[in-house]
Amino acid sequence: MKSILITGGAGFIGSHTIRQFVRRYPDYHIVNLDKLTYAGNLENLKDVEDAPNYEFVKGDIYDAAFLKELFEKYRFDGVIHLAAESHVDRSISDPNEFIKTNVVGTVNLLNVAKDQWQGDFEGKLFYHISTDEVYGSLEEGGYFTEETPYDPRSPYSASKASSDHMVRAYYNTYKLPVVISNCSNNYGPHQFPEKLIPLFINNIRNNKELPVYGKGENVRDWLYVEDHAKAIDLIYHRGRIGETYNIGGDNEWRNIDLIRKLCEIMDHKLGRMAGSSAELITYVKDRAGHDLRYAIDCSKLKNELGWSQEVTFAEGLERTVDWYLENEEWLNHVLTGEYEEYYRKQYVER
Ligand code: NAD
Ligand code: DAU
Repeated sequence: MKSILITGGAGFIGSHTIRQFVRRYPDYHIVNLDKLTYAGNLENLKDVEDAPNYEFVKGDIYDAAFLKELFEKYRFDGVIHLAAESHVDRSISDPNEFIKTNVVGTVNLLNVAKDQWQGDFEGKLFYHISTDEVYGSLEEGGYFTEETPYDPRSPYSASKASSDHMVRAYYNTYKLPVVISNCSNNYGPHQFPEKLIPLFINNIRNNKELPVYGKGENVRDWLYVEDHAKAIDLIYHRGRIGETYNIGGDNEWRNIDLIRKLCEIMDHKLGRMAGSSAELITYVKDRAGHDLRYAIDCSKLKNELGWSQEVTFAEGLERTVDWYLENEEWLNHVLTGEYEEYYRKQYVER
């Protein structure tokens, strides 16, 4: 039986990845290590928590001594590393947590994997999950490929870029078997309502203003989260050691166009008059250093491993809106005091 560590499994993408692996691989023992920060929520995993091949461990990847004990206990064959501070706006107001978790936490994990595997790397893999934001910002034309030079511009993307460099350094220096993927913007059920799509769904639901940064002209490439989890499964099992794979939606939207689309869907779902949600759109001060455009060329993943997006944007948005409207209890649980405090600092006092 293989023993696999998935970090950050109580978060958004992590929980979909856990579900993918727990259901598909009954002969793997999946350990979910998560600190349960504001973004980690075990309710995301209710449907798999009793599975015999799944186990949750609460812990912090910043704590090297704890990681050593964990690796000694479970003797992992593989690591899929998603734990991170993931929100750009939070990295602008408080970068230090991003360095602790994203950089030092990743290095702690690399060290413990290297020390335990002791050069016997047969059947072992350290898979690091990263973002397209490490490549910087594009103007109107062009795409990020795996060869695009790194040019991170926010504290979040700089911390992720640092962690990617450390992962590659351990491959080059110690021959640690690694693979990295860099993905575009994910959306779908269980995403914390600080990110654009769930935040705006929740605000529309509550007739609150929709704070569009700048002119709403920034472009993002959106991928349904289950398609990302399937790509992670494929890369974990068939990706070439030492390689990087870009993952994307081939689905670019200007923020304002996406927001208008979301407003239309919400009007329809809530039985409101057409155009009423769009009246909530409010242009606010731009995000500091706001990257204009991200666009991923994911042809390497498609050509080499046969991956492709399965969920269209129309279908994915519909499913996402339905999920949030049907899961008010989940939303109410995550909208704690900490969230209210964050919302006030980010949108009311800025
Ligand atoms: P998330 O914020 O929803 O979840 C992060 C999880 O990590 C949470 O469960 C949190 O409790 C846990 N965590 C944070 N610090 C920890 C620590 N010190 N020790 C242990 N656990 C800790 O994030 P997400 O959106 O699911 O992103 C997951 C990964 O995917 C991140 O590495 C992120 O950089 C990357 N990524 C995200 C996107 C996206 O659109 N959300 C796109 C590309 C890549
Ligand atoms: O590209 C991958 C990245 O996508 C991931 O690495 C990050 O973890 C993830 O958070 C996401 O980063 P973004 O900054 O692109 O996502 P966010 O949802 O914060 O914002 C999407 C766009 O919407 C961005 O251009 C900023 C804008 N925005 C966002 C918020 C929260 C607004 O206009 N208003 C808002 O209130």
